[in-house]
Amino acid sequence: MPSFISSKRMPAVTASAPGKIILFGEHAVVYGQPAIAVPVTQVQARCSVVANPTAPAGQVEIDAPDIGLKSTLEELPPTHPLALPIHLVREQLGIPAIPACRLRITSTIPIASGLGSGAAVSVAMARAISAFLGHPLTAEQVSSIAFRVDQTYHGTPSGIDNTVITYHQPIFFVRGEPFERLTLRHPFWIVIGNSGISSSTVTVVEEVRRRYQASPSSIEPILLAIGKIVRQARALLESDDPEQLGVLLTENHHKLQELGVSCPELDHLVQAALQNGALGAKLSGGGRGGNMIALVKEEKAAQVAEALRRAGAVSTLLTRVG
Ligand code: MEV
Repeated sequence: MPSFISSKRMPAVTASAPGKIILFGEHAVVYGQPAIAVPVTQVQARCSVVANPTAPAGQVEIDAPDIGLKSTLEELPPTHPLALPIHLVREQLGIPAIPACRLRITSTIPIASGLGSGAAVSVAMARAISAFLGHPLTAEQVSSIAFRVDQTYHGTPSGIDNTVITYHQPIFFVRGEPFERLTLRHPFWIVIGNSGISSSTVTVVEEVRRRYQASPSSIEPILLAIGKIVRQARALLESDDPEQLGVLLTENHHKLQELGVSCPELDHLVQAALQNGALGAKLSGGGRGGNMIALVKEEKAAQVAEALRRAGAVSTLLTRVG
């Protein structure tokens, strides 16, 4: 491992990472049930790094215009989400300091909406900084950095967000086990509807934990039922019958309602999608706001998206999976 890296002649580097949606299994995945997630490439986090040889040695400037942050690394607490990935890359490469440089971090992934914006920023940063230093980290290292950042803010992440975002593929994920790449037999279309309500995954995950601890016998059957839906969904994704997926999506939404992580606005969007031609719909991610997803035939996509906007979605996005 390098002990010192100079910024002379270091080329500027840009790296990006996609957003994600959880198709099936959020929350239950925290308790060891499987989940299925896919990347969403229409939205991206991006980090560019350029050497700044005229700045004092080791000064790292960070510019994140989307959140109005302009600072130096030194000025930020080490656990700040835009500082921690830098420290973790440095630690991983075994170097004491990073040469003077400027980082610019931007993202089109809505924050606090269940689309993985935090993990995508960490992944883009870890990739860009390590490449800038001439020692690109492996996907496994990048994913583990994003996981550690996530852990700092949300004590018990399952690891699904950093994994799907780093590997950029549909995955079948069980906490603590190597993930499996899913080969989808047929592509399908998903409309993503943003409720516009920002929601903190950590708060909702903690609330589910409190409910679980207070009454495991009422929560456990819901988690097991979600796990069963996820396994059935996997079989359908790998078979010839993707339309049946819609039924499972809606069943998964009902289980998430029972778990207490939906909200009237998300339920309303799910209903609007179902009443306007979607094959199935559910909330996606932490819940209590953020996004919902609807499985649609391509020819119905515009109609469902329009219905979602009429029902209060602040934005919609059509994504082809597979
Ligand atoms: C968040 O994208 C998904 C949750 O299941 C939390 C996690 O898996 O860490 C709600």
